[in-house]
Amino acid sequence: MNGILLLGATSDIGGELTRRLCPGRPVVLAARRPDSLTDIAAQLRSAGATQVHTLAFEATDLTSHREVVTRAQELTGGVATTILAYGILGDQQRAETDETHAAEIATIDYTAQISMLTVLADSMPHGEIIAFSSIAGWRARRANYVYGSTKAGLDAFCQGLADRLHGSRLRLITARPGFVIGSMTQGMTPAPMSVTPDQVADAVATEIHTGKGSTTLWIPRRLQLLAWVMKLVPRPIWRHMPR
Ligand SMILES: NC(=O)c1ccc[n+]([C@@H]2O[C@H](COP(=O)([O-])OP(=O)(O)OC[C@H]3O[C@@H](n4cnc5c(N)ncnc54)[C@H](OP(=O)(O)O)[C@@H]3O)[C@@H](O)[C@H]2O)c1
Repeated sequence: MNGILLLGATSDIGGELTRRLCPGRPVVLAARRPDSLTDIAAQLRSAGATQVHTLAFEATDLTSHREVVTRAQELTGGVATTILAYGILGDQQRAETDETHAAEIATIDYTAQISMLTVLADSMPHGEIIAFSSIAGWRARRANYVYGSTKAGLDAFCQGLADRLHGSRLRLITARPGFVIGSMTQGMTPAPMSVTPDQVADAVATEIHTGKGSTTLWIPRRLQLLAWVMKLVPRPIWRHMPR
């Protein structure tokens, strides 16, 4: 019972993390475009995954979440690690006037996350769940408050779920990366303390291999200092912060 389930399997961060965890283990890649998984599946096989299965997964179809997890359990003989790597940054400017887009960001980045986390906490007897919060949720910024608000909500949910899992054999690792240079941020100027998907994957994989119990990880670690300073910046200055 040592399967890996990667939800949002074309994710840069999710792919890097799964590559580090997969040697000797069966993997299920779940994505809304399962036909685009050939490369990542081949990479995982050559990294040592014993089997690689693919599943169709549309995060906004909340009624499918339990079925996807059950299918992944059947395919692998049991899932011990689940990575929730799906998410969108969305278009803040568009979301300010297009309520459908604002709701789409909220559905993928909050509602579909807490729905899946609830299914996973209910159906995984042991192992670890990895969820991705963000510095964007730490203090909402005028420049990306729609995405930021979903991460704030998700982070709060994760803190509570981690406490609920305390003392059980299942742990929740909540990653709080800063700016990650990759597909999601393509075309944007990297923020201070930017990291790569490799660095995020390294930090989470190290925690999985050496840590115990649920935890929250700032990535990079020194971002935590900046985060505390962020809370002290007066609002008239804060509202001019870039994304
Ligand atoms: N990149 C950053 O700067 C950053 C910083 C902090 C936190 N994070 C968080 O880290 C996580 C992973 O980010 P990443 O950088 O790896 O992003 P990414 O490379 O853009 O990958 C996002 C993944 O989400 C999938 N996805 C989007 N909407 C979906 C839906 N409705 N149903 C199913 N899958 C869907 C995408 O599928 P398609 O390929 O089909 O679009 C893609 O596989 C996200 O939660 C993100 O918010 C990222």
